[in-house]
Amino acid sequence: MEKYTEPGLVDLPRIYDPRGNLTFVQNGDAALPFAIERVYWTYDVPAGEARGGHSHHEGKELLVATSGSFNVNLFDGKEWRHFTLNRPYQALYIPPGYWRTLDNFSSGSVCMVLTSTKYTEDDYVREFDEFIKLSSAR
Ligand code: TYD
Repeated sequence: MEKYTEPGLVDLPRIYDPRGNLTFVQNGDAALPFAIERVYWTYDVPAGEARGGHSHHEGKELLVATSGSFNVNLFDGKEWRHFTLNRPYQALYIPPGYWRTLDNFSSGSVCMVLTSTKYTEDDYVREFDEFIKLSSAR
């Protein structure tokens, strides 16, 4: 990927250990495209449900399947890109301006999201028509 202007998978550090492996992120690491301001996670997603359905004006995000698997579908206004996340040491970087939906959650999956901004509804574009208008003006 072009460095952090495009969505793409980011490999996080892995500490292998016979007791169980460990992955971490910390601000300042080269692997991190932004300083982390907030972390949230979704869990107990019922079979067949989808989440997301929005884009952000400013917020950058890294999504990690800390448990299980799910699909992430990204739209820049022209083309869709599809990713499957299923490795706790791999993150999907999503720059601002991408419409995203998440689906095909496996049972017990957890989607952890590291973000560059505090939560504010003002940063969301939740109407697809508005997203299309904004993306065609870019
Ligand atoms: P939403 O962004 O719609 O979730 P998703 O994109 O994962 O489907 O958020 C669901 C609700 O949670 C919405 O009312 C906003 C609230 N929320 C917070 O209060 N703080 C947060 O950090 C996030 C991500 C959401």
